[in-house]
Amino acid sequence: MSRILVTGGMGYIGSHTTVELMQQGYKVTIVDNLSNSNIGVLDGIQAIVGERPDFEQVDCNDYEAMDRVFSTYPDIEAVIHFAASKAVGESVEKPLLYYRNNIGSLITLLELMKKHAVRNIVFSSSCTVYGQPDADHLPVNEDAPIQKALSPYGNTKQINEEIIRDEAHADADLRAILLRYFNPIGAHPSALIGELPLGVPQNLLPFVTQTAAGIRKELKVFGDDYNTPDGSCIRDYIYVVDLAKAHVKAVERMLGGKSAEQVEVFNLGTGRGLSVLEIVRTFIEVTGVKLPYQIVGRREGDIEQVWADPKRANEVLGWHADTPTEDILASAWKWQCHLSEQ
Ligand code: UD1
Repeated sequence: MSRILVTGGMGYIGSHTTVELMQQGYKVTIVDNLSNSNIGVLDGIQAIVGERPDFEQVDCNDYEAMDRVFSTYPDIEAVIHFAASKAVGESVEKPLLYYRNNIGSLITLLELMKKHAVRNIVFSSSCTVYGQPDADHLPVNEDAPIQKALSPYGNTKQINEEIIRDEAHADADLRAILLRYFNPIGAHPSALIGELPLGVPQNLLPFVTQTAAGIRKELKVFGDDYNTPDGSCIRDYIYVVDLAKAHVKAVERMLGGKSAEQVEVFNLGTGRGLSVLEIVRTFIEVTGVKLPYQIVGRREGDIEQVWADPKRANEVLGWHADTPTEDILASAWKWQCHLSEQ
């Protein structure tokens, strides 16, 4: 079976994807510098799969070390590139760090893929590239216009998509699939791996579960005066395990020689928009725990509403994100309880 190089494979989406790949029989080499993850994730993956992925503690920006990784595993057939800095606020404070980390690592990878004749890459992109779509572009499909990024983090996703397109134009053998994620939430049903936010979580779900666990005093709902049915923002929350499975489909497509174009783009979302208040209410219903919250002012830079048209991924990849919201929120709570026991 083919070997897949998973950069950032110790992170939230990377670890769930590693599990799905291994369960489908792929060999996985994880490269991760552990800057936003820890070595214990390997135990979680092993406990679920029954086998340990190969792991190299290497920074993707380190050309020589990455060169050695490619030489050590000559059977690598595709790369899934998750490794990136991802905190929007931090990217505004430290733009150069984000440009160096996120763009430098992709360039290094593409150079080494060429050198070692690895011709397939799946890239972690984001719905952030669409900004706030016009009303007639909702739900948003892959042909919606790309809008000027609101943060250096978002800009690195856009620039990296362009770098891949330019390189594919110059190199007819390169195949790429760009996956634009909506909002990944939840944890593996085993609660052996999940999201591990460092410090105070910025994203909604980890803040919800930490508040329910009593780690945070109350959730702040950022705004109830938006032009949405209940006034709070709307997003497309996708189960991280469903998201992980889409990567397996993308890899299968490329390795099976089925790509219709050198660079293909897929939205990964459910097609269902949920408001912040709907998430809060459903979480309380499903778990039965108390979740103190307060409505406060809007968060700067927030988009009012965005959700996916996932038709292309449904039809072309044969993939659907169909886990019920209740099950997803229950998995997030189970993971938080597991963390709190440690
Ligand atoms: C954010 C990033 C996006 C990134 C994504 C990763 C911004 C502007 N965008 O998206 O680039 O790809 O995370 O998952 O930061 N909310 C609260 N209270 C909280 C936290 C969040 O009400 O304590 C609300 C937000 O206002 C938003 C929704 O929950 O309406 C989701 O927020 P979040 O999880 O941060 O995701 P995004 O803002 O969609």
